[in-house]
Amino acid sequence: MPRSAGMKLHHLGVQTTDIDNCLEWYLEFFGAQKEWQLDHFSELTQRRLPGIRRLVEISAGDVRIHLFDRAGHSEMQPDPNGFIFQHVCVSVSSPEELGEMRSKWIELYESGRFSFASTEQPTEIVVDDEGVQSLYVYDVNGLEYEISYMPEGTR
Ligand SMILES: [Fe+2]
Repeated sequence: MPRSAGMKLHHLGVQTTDIDNCLEWYLEFFGAQKEWQLDHFSELTQRRLPGIRRLVEISAGDVRIHLFDRAGHSEMQPDPNGFIFQHVCVSVSSPEELGEMRSKWIELYESGRFSFASTEQPTEIVVDDEGVQSLYVYDVNGLEYEISYMPEGTR
């Protein structure tokens, strides 16, 4: 058995300049829940992430995300043509959820309760030849998520 056979994605790490804005948005948009938080960090973490002040783990379904607050965040977006994790895709279990999440995104954006790094609006929901449906949205930090519905039999 290859060593990678037991490998699973454990969590994503998202750094932000305003943890309260980010946390509230993630809880509401993804319908996530807060799992735990930390405000003391190892010497290694402080060396890797200077200025880290707080880390909050949230979860939604099987997805875990670590949101962390960085003092001295540049508030800059990375070069979209550079070496970046371009997007993260999470799947949902029904096509209706895609429409609901698109509406939810717009509702939260228009509520004025959150500050967004990008004014980019959600895409339309696209359907590929195999019936996979996808929606692309940005989080409050300008990071791109794909939200997909995969019909049975697709992978
Ligand atoms: Fe994708």
